[in-house]
Amino acid sequence: MKYLLSKVVLASCLMLGVSAMSPSIAADAAGPAKPDAAKGATLYEQGDAARGVVACASCHGAAGNSTIPANPNLAAQSHEYLYKQLNEFRPKAGATEALRKGPDGAPSVMTAMAASLTEADMRNLSVYLTAQKLTEPATATNPKLLERGQHIWRAGIPDRNVPACAGCHSPNGAGIPGQYPRLGGQYPSYIEEQLKLFRAGHRANGPMMNQIADRMSDSDIKAVSDYAAGLR
Ligand code: HEC
Ligand code: HEC
Repeated sequence: MKYLLSKVVLASCLMLGVSAMSPSIAADAAGPAKPDAAKGATLYEQGDAARGVVACASCHGAAGNSTIPANPNLAAQSHEYLYKQLNEFRPKAGATEALRKGPDGAPSVMTAMAASLTEADMRNLSVYLTAQKLTEPATATNPKLLERGQHIWRAGIPDRNVPACAGCHSPNGAGIPGQYPRLGGQYPSYIEEQLKLFRAGHRANGPMMNQIADRMSDSDIKAVSDYAAGLR
């Protein structure tokens, strides 16, 4: 019976595209309610002052199209990835620090923003954002970096065991929903910052990326970040 129940829970997690490892979902034997994009939209645009949720739009722009490079674009990002990030800005039960921290290992701006979100909020926001169009994608900014960036994207840096980014994030930078996030159209300065956070270990929620970034120089990171931003 126990076996049967856990199989049902696992199946409902898979159907939602949520990792079966997620403890808060796996614990919910009744299965979570279907994510509601309309509720996600309202919370995204207006926040919920009574619960201390700040309107996401105030930083991430209308429908996930940010106008401020420090705040990433969220439109058209995979919902599994968004949900995972929102969870990992929050310290896991029993932990004092979140897996995803900001510069110098200080709490990310998002740790405070995600603190008041419920499981349902995070799922609702994620399905809302994934369905939005990236109407104002960022672009590459430095033609001098293009050749080097393109080379790293397509072929990696073989002598330092850096794999081709395209192999996971897809040749056109759209990512693979459920597995690898979109990078095309993201702000180059944000991509660069994340690679440096992975390299420093301050962002510890993507072990593959920690290993990859660890083998890259500042100039490699700058070149590939600029190139990735321009992908469509
Ligand atoms: C005060 C500005 C601000 C507000 C308000 C805000 N964010 Fe953020 N958000 C940021 C910044 C800055 C980052 C980059 C954080 C980092 O690198 O540690 C970020 C990152 C994220 C990411 C990770 C994106 C990625 O590509 O990995 C997600 C998801 C996110 N925010 C969702 C939200 C949602 C949902 C809300 C509303 C509940 C929200 N944010 C409110 C500033 C904000
Ligand atoms: C083996 C697969 C793999 C390869 C190769 C790979 N990545 Fe990633 N990357 C991932 C995964 C998985 C994540 C999501 C980590 C998480 O869950 O936070 C990620 C996340 C990222 C992020 C964070 C995105 C955001 O919105 O915050 C950046 C930036 C990134 N990768 C850049 C690169 C670059 C540049 C390369 C090539 C040098 C590369 N990746 C190669 C798997 C890969």
